[in-house]
Amino acid sequence: MSERVIIFDTTLRDGEQSPGASMNAGEKMRLATQLEKLGVDVLEAGFPAASTGDFEAVSDIAGKLKHTEVAALARTSKEDIDRAWSAIKHAVKPRIHTFIATSDLHMHYKLNMTKEEVLKTAVEAVKYAASFTDNVEFSAEDASRSDRDFLCKVFETAIEAGATTINIPDTVGYAIPEEFSELTKYVIAHTPNIGKAVVSVHCHNDLGLATANTIAAVTSGARQAEVTINGIGERAGNTSLEEFVMAMHTRPNYLPLSSNINTELIYPTSRLVTMITGIIVQPNKAIVGANAFAHEAGIHQDGVLKNPMTYEIMKPETVGLSASKLVLGKHSGRHALRSRLKELGYDLSDEELKLVFKKFKELADKKKHVVDEDLEVIVTEGILRTTDTFRLEYLHVTCGTTVIPTATVKLAINDRPAQGAGYGNGPIDAAFDSIAKLTGTESELLRFSVSALTGGTDAQGEVTVRLKENGLIALGRGADPDIITASAKAYINGLNRLEYLKDHPVDATEGL
Ligand code: KIV
Ligand code: ZN
Repeated sequence: MSERVIIFDTTLRDGEQSPGASMNAGEKMRLATQLEKLGVDVLEAGFPAASTGDFEAVSDIAGKLKHTEVAALARTSKEDIDRAWSAIKHAVKPRIHTFIATSDLHMHYKLNMTKEEVLKTAVEAVKYAASFTDNVEFSAEDASRSDRDFLCKVFETAIEAGATTINIPDTVGYAIPEEFSELTKYVIAHTPNIGKAVVSVHCHNDLGLATANTIAAVTSGARQAEVTINGIGERAGNTSLEEFVMAMHTRPNYLPLSSNINTELIYPTSRLVTMITGIIVQPNKAIVGANAFAHEAGIHQDGVLKNPMTYEIMKPETVGLSASKLVLGKHSGRHALRSRLKELGYDLSDEELKLVFKKFKELADKKKHVVDEDLEVIVTEGILRTTDTFRLEYLHVTCGTTVIPTATVKLAINDRPAQGAGYGNGPIDAAFDSIAKLTGTESELLRFSVSALTGGTDAQGEVTVRLKENGLIALGRGADPDIITASAKAYINGLNRLEYLKDHPVDATEGL
């Protein structure tokens, strides 16, 4: 049997550090339960010392997950470790993940510490964390640019102090696969007590090499891979879970390793992350991009029809892309809806189902076929965003060649109705103007993009906006068969995320 690689998912921590990708507590919980279903072994739920909101989200997730290990990140201070432990101590399997930088560059400029001080601090932190749990991970930040012998010394002392996993991060995505493979082998060969710990890697994608580096490391002895769904994360992101897992799955002869991931849940999980974060996957993204299984050239189409293996190295069904996308229509009943939602991973209460069913019927009246992507929109907008400050109740626009575009909007602001009008260059500008006036917000629209959620002229339009206000940046996402309504929903979603960020200031990301 092939050896197992531990899948450590950090979508909710490093992934959430993607610019604008903040998630509210309900969204984090929804994603955490989906990641548990997907089969990740360890779920890094957040950085509890960063903010009260992060602490509460990590604590709620720790209390909810049934069998997945829940990790919390902490710098080396006692306060951070205390905070991390308080947030996860009630988890079925809690893990404290503490880290400090070990490269000369970081130690000198960022930490202003000597090697000896870093070594001492790391040991004390690991010892302190180990006084709470025997499941402690230690990361040497910027490991790939650190002096190798010093790195091994830090790892050796951390293991002696109680670390059960040692993590080699390529923090700035600088490594080249061959070099990262050598580094992994070096650490294993020169850390005398390495047998007492699992070797982990955490790669960033600045050179587009995160997955390649992770693969190089596991072929050289690492047995934990830190990954995120869709590869989201700080700057260019992290190793993408789906790429790493499917590489092992597709090339078992070359990579005789396995994971606990239920690959058929990869695509629904990827969609959920897009829905929640507003970060759209590029169409040519491996495994989960819209074109990943599309064949354009005639010669390719011909080959695929004769035998899919001519141009498909994986079956779309293996990653959860169903061959037939048509699911429900306006005559479908509550029962059919519930069972399709269950297949998609949504276990709704009767109350929630009632609400989703109502919205489903409204959509089915406008659109002949309601597909999985439409259902996901209904659930995300109808259930996960119920705690939002601003909700769209009504939108009416007037536009054309001979009138000044105007919009009348009714919102629920903290459940109180508010109505107003505005005008602009076009109907979307007018809708945004009235929403901004009603909410009293002054955000700057940094980006606006529209795409179709699925094929067909009746497809829902999917709008993403990027907003900035008082130095805070948030993404917003909305979908609707009417593109102006979709834009208004995306704008309101972005404003809600900005509100969330205002209420949950991150005060401890320095040093991450
Ligand atoms: O990239 C990095 O070094 C990290 C550590 C905190 C593991 O995210
Ligand atoms: Zn990272």
